[in-house]
Amino acid sequence: MSEHQELKDYLDLNFSQEDEPLKWIREHSAEHGLPNINISPYMGRFLYLMAKIHQPKKILEIGTLGGYSTVWLAKAVPEAKMISLEINPHYVKLARKHLEKYSLSHRVEIREGHGVDLLSQIAQKQEGPFDLFFLDADKENNILYLDWAIHLSRPGSLILIDNVIPKGPKGGIPGNKEAVSIYAFNDYLTKQPAIEVAAITTLNRHGLDGMAIALRKDT
Ligand SMILES: C[S@@+](CC[C@H](N)C(=O)[O-])C[C@H]1O[C@@H](n2cnc3c(N)ncnc32)[C@H](O)[C@@H]1O
Repeated sequence: MSEHQELKDYLDLNFSQEDEPLKWIREHSAEHGLPNINISPYMGRFLYLMAKIHQPKKILEIGTLGGYSTVWLAKAVPEAKMISLEINPHYVKLARKHLEKYSLSHRVEIREGHGVDLLSQIAQKQEGPFDLFFLDADKENNILYLDWAIHLSRPGSLILIDNVIPKGPKGGIPGNKEAVSIYAFNDYLTKQPAIEVAAITTLNRHGLDGMAIALRKDT
């Protein structure tokens, strides 16, 4: 066994455990053809811990997929209400089933549609402010999602954004739209006057990846 593999196994054993319901959601999602693009158990634990420390009353997620990250967040704070936004009707159906199975449907609502449209409806209905956000949908719209998150937040809200490490150099690899969007997003985030501080945590999953954590300023 290589030294790298040994270290990976050691880290998995100590920091990548998840409980049976979460493991089942991943497996059941795969059986139903969902792509393997959910956060890793490492990041699930990180989200869980962030939520446990922050104790949000209201959580807003953009990008549900099968509800894996949704369940990590919802389980962290049993009194919290959560809304999760997803564009794909097949994913919405399955995620709702997963939430039902774990008796979370009474406090976690999955809304179907484009994130930008749904966020504007949330603002119109004055459903904010939210205390914690998790942005994990189409990276091309992350600047818009961040603007909405700030609009729907309160001073002290946490905004977590997944996949902030671009794959490719800043000059851009032709056609790599996602990398270009991530560079633009990071520049926007770090110069955002409404954000007090933004930090990133990195991990090596399929190559280097990371999540940003931003704190809404006290204004
Ligand atoms: C990376 S996956 C989310 C994974 C999920 N957060 C997890 O870790 O279990 C991104 C999701 O965003 C959804 N999505 C993509 N574009 C979207 C949009 N414009 N509005 C809402 N959801 C979108 C995709 O269908 C996909 O399910």
